[in-house]
Amino acid sequence: MADISIDPIVQRPRRLRRTPAIRRMVAETRLDPADLVLPMFAVEGLTEPREIATMPGVWQHTKESLQKAVHDAADAGVGAVMLFGTPLERDPIGSQAWNPHGILANAVRWAVEAEPELPVIADVCLDEFTDHGHCGVLAPDGTVDNDATLPLYAKMSVVLADAGAAMLGPSGMMDGQIAVIRKALDDAGHTDTVLMAYSAKYASGFFGPFREAVDSQLKGDRRAYQQDPANAIESLREIELDLEQGADFVMVKPAMAYLDVLAAARAISNVPVAAYVVSGEYSMIEFAARAGALDRKRCIMEALTSAKRAGASTIVTYWATEVATWLNEVR
Ligand code: PBG
Repeated sequence: MADISIDPIVQRPRRLRRTPAIRRMVAETRLDPADLVLPMFAVEGLTEPREIATMPGVWQHTKESLQKAVHDAADAGVGAVMLFGTPLERDPIGSQAWNPHGILANAVRWAVEAEPELPVIADVCLDEFTDHGHCGVLAPDGTVDNDATLPLYAKMSVVLADAGAAMLGPSGMMDGQIAVIRKALDDAGHTDTVLMAYSAKYASGFFGPFREAVDSQLKGDRRAYQQDPANAIESLREIELDLEQGADFVMVKPAMAYLDVLAAARAISNVPVAAYVVSGEYSMIEFAARAGALDRKRCIMEALTSAKRAGASTIVTYWATEVATWLNEVR
């Protein structure tokens, strides 16, 4: 039998994977607590915090529980908190959204009072405040009236900036919203208020659990204003328009089903790019872990790392405080 000689393998990528210390040294992507933004729900008239059944581990807050959660987030080093408000009373135009003493403006004040140094982001959208659950006011034919909605976003934005929000997250997907909000803020003297634009927001089934979180009244869907999941090029146009109109951040939402869009957003933007790991992404992992199908911590870290690897510098996630705590432990 002849000797079978094998050429020595010189290229061995596995050398760099051999030990935890080497893997840590060569990791291309690292999460930091400051990358993470914690979304929170404040509910008017609530006397006790209430866990959201479709999002186990996420709570609807009272003033007291919100302030405690804001402290915990700040102690863990998260970058910011993002607030949503659920009012007691809804109407067709969502007028509680620009009530200076409404639930969202109050929640902003509570969060700022709890942690004055922590950036507080307030959601700018009417869907929690309208009795039909759409993100804007309706035209007589029942469609969402883009141009009639814009001045309402402008009023809401000024109220939230007055309440102390350092940043606003316009999430309604109305055309021209960034320009109108920027002008209203500037005219009111809020030239420093940061706009984190939900530029590429898709009409996604993964928002499902959020509906319970804000007690949504929506019957139909948002396909006539949020983006079609089939489209990626269209998101580039949305991002360009928001940048032209003065966006300080752009966002892609949801995250895991849209990592291609996130990478493209990073490539064309000269501002920070955020990814929102939405309610359905949270609940998928939580319920699968509870059923014994997934390793919870490992999958959470993998999901958030994928968003950062794809191009997000900021990650909005319901796991923000817990993950920040884990990141602090390994140091
Ligand atoms: C609208 C808004 C939604 C979410 C954030 N802002 C719901 C929607 O567009 O239907 C979803 C967030 C999540 O699912 O975690 N104000």
